[in-house]
Order: sequence, then structure tokens, then C-alpha cells
Amino acid sequence: MIPLDQIVQGDCIDLLRSVEPFADLVFADPPFNIGYKYDVYEDRKAYDEYYRWTRDWMTACKRILKPTGSFWIAIGAEYAAEVRFIGRELGLTLRNWVIWHYTFGQNTKRKFARSHTHLFYFTMHPTEFTFNDKAVRTFSDREREYNDKRANPDGRIPDDVWTEFPRVCGTFGQREGWHPCQMPEPLLARIVRVCSNPGDVVFDPFSGSGTTAAAAKRLDRRYAGTEISAEYVKNANARLAEIQTLRETAAKNNGRWSEEMLDLLNGAYAEFALPTDRLYANPHLFTRFVERFHHRLRHSGVEGEYSSEEIWRQLEMLRKSVRLVKIRAHADEPASLPIRATPEYETEPPSKKTGRKDKTGLSTLFS
Ligand SMILES: C[S@@+](CC[C@H](N)C(=O)[O-])C[C@H]1O[C@@H](n2cnc3c(N)ncnc32)[C@H](O)[C@@H]1O
Repeated sequence: MIPLDQIVQGDCIDLLRSVEPFADLVFADPPFNIGYKYDVYEDRKAYDEYYRWTRDWMTACKRILKPTGSFWIAIGAEYAAEVRFIGRELGLTLRNWVIWHYTFGQNTKRKFARSHTHLFYFTMHPTEFTFNDKAVRTFSDREREYNDKRANPDGRIPDDVWTEFPRVCGTFGQREGWHPCQMPEPLLARIVRVCSNPGDVVFDPFSGSGTTAAAAKRLDRRYAGTEISAEYVKNANARLAEIQTLRETAAKNNGRWSEEMLDLLNGAYAEFALPTDRLYANPHLFTRFVERFHHRLRHSGVEGEYSSEEIWRQLEMLRKSVRLVKIRAHADEPASLPIRATPEYETEPPSKKTGRKDKTGLSTLFS
């Protein structure tokens, strides 16, 4: 039995032995065998040993997935082909081979700098699995650039090259500091939202700093995890104890949104990639923004309804306090993660505040 809502210490293969299928989603980010410094695990093994070990833990994880489960694996370029091959041997269905392209990679002297990780998205069943498309849909170029009526009103599913998630580096506020390779939580949140539902069980065999569990807990899923280092287990469980679900933090405090809700809004704004001036100038786009934000909320376990005016107000608060994510002009420009916001002041839509003609078009929305 793997206990829920905690991370347990031990070797994942041992701990998963003779456990019945219980997980709806597994996210595994194993050591890449490139000599990283962990506290107890030795990250430099002979090729054959690492290959056998990869096959063993992938087999163990497949066994504890429910028949409709999804299995995501993060791996470096050195062993990506092997993981894909083992996935085929195990009879898993490959849905996507995602490239996570990040900024802030380490500099190199005699080869190109490492700036991506491979993310394999496998499912147990070829057609029966959870894929909450509306939890991730964003704006298409047809909507964003061309105002084309033929655009799908539900928006567009993002591409399989992800550029919106910078690595968690030394100086970043979200960094736990005691783990060498913490994943960004927004990246895990995308996977958890799209491949599971509130109440489902998310499992991570290599929990590290507990990022998968943190995203799962925040989004109202059950979580479970194993980790070989007793120190990491202690720290990760302490990190998890501090986390409240988004549903719990959604309750407003004197009209103010919680920092977690503002993070969700800021993250959606970054992925939708429509700057506020264009959003405000086009009521149709703003309506779509609001609809899609609500889909994200629901797939994050929050049932509330927020008016367009309220969402506008929160966006304006973020913008005026210089906390709104910078929208990139091109894909190559580094993305910026949502920065925690402190809701300091209230403001009014221009139409209401001045009583003058509203150049933003928002008065149409709010009338
Ligand atoms: C790449 S890190 C995971 C980082 C994690 N995704 C995060 O965001 O913090 C890999 C982790 O696997 C752990 N580990 C190595 N071998 C293990 C095993 N056999 N069973 C469980 N955990 C193991 C290491 O201690 C390390 O913390």
C-alpha cells in the first residue's frame, strides 16, 4: 500500500512491489545519469545498469496505473531514445513527445548549451484516458492576430514545444533551495490539470522537492510519492503542509483575491499571450479570455463565477503594481513566471471612473 497525501521514504521499485493499481496519473522525473549532485543517490551509472534500472522503474509505475491512466516522464537527451523504446516494449501508447524548452540553462564551453528536457506523455489505453482540453486551451493566431471568424470558439490546444516555463534557478523566489533540480510548479500544474480530475490520484516515484505533489494538492487532487532521500522527504512533506488547495484560497478577503488565485490569473494571462491593451480594446477577445479562465478554474477544483469586471479589476491591479507577466513579442524571448502579487489597491473600469466615453470597449462588457 502506498499511503495517500504524503511522500514516503524508500526505493520506488521496492515500495511499489505488489501494490494494486491506484494512480490516475504518474509523473516521473528520474535522475538523468549525468552526474548531478543528490544527497544520497549516485547519478553516474554504467549504461547497462541505468538502462535496466529505467526499465524496472517504468515497469513498476505502469503496474500501479489504472487502465485509463496517464504516464509522463521527464528525461534528458542522453536517454530519451531509450525511454521511448522501453515505453513501446511495455505496450504504452505515446500521445506526445513534448520538448520543454527553458531559459536559464547552464553555459557550456565546447558544445551547445543544454536548453531543453524531453517530456514523454504515454497513456495506458490508446483511446480511454483523461485529456481535459479546455483546461489548457489558449488563443489561436486566427483569433489573436487575424480576428478570423472561422477560429474555433474554444480556442487552441498548445503546441508540443513548451516555452512558457523557465527553469527554477538559484535566485528564484519559488526555489526551495535544498534540492538541486526542482521542476517549475506551473509546468506540473498544466499536466495535472489536463490529465486528471479533482479527486484523482497523482503519483511521483522520484518526488525530490515535492513539486508534483504540490501541484496536485493545490489543484485538489490526492497525491502520493516516494523518494529515496530521507532529508528530501522531510523537507518535501514540510513544503506540502504549507500548501492550501486553490479551492480553499478562492474565498475572497474583503474583495481581495488570494495570491494563489492571482498566480492562476497571471499564468493564464501569460499563456494566452494577449497584452492588456489589445484585450481591453476587443470585447470579444476579453469575453473569450474570461471563459477560458473559468475553464482553468474548474479544472483546478474551483467552482466560483467571476464577472468580467472583476477579472478586469484584478488584471489592472496586477498591471499597475508591475506584477503582471510580460507578454513575449516572439517565441524566442524569455518567458517570465508569474510573480506573486500583493493586492494593494482597487480601481474602476475607465468607463465607470471617468464617466467619459470608454475607449477600451469594456463598457460594452460591463453594461
Ligand atoms: C530529478 S530529481 C526529482 C526532482 C523533482 N521532480 C522536483 O521537482 O523536485 C530525482 C529524485 O529521485 C530521487 N531518487 C533516486 N533514486 C530513487 C529511487 N530508487 N527511488 C526513489 N527516489 C529516488 C533522488 O533522490 C532525487 O531527489
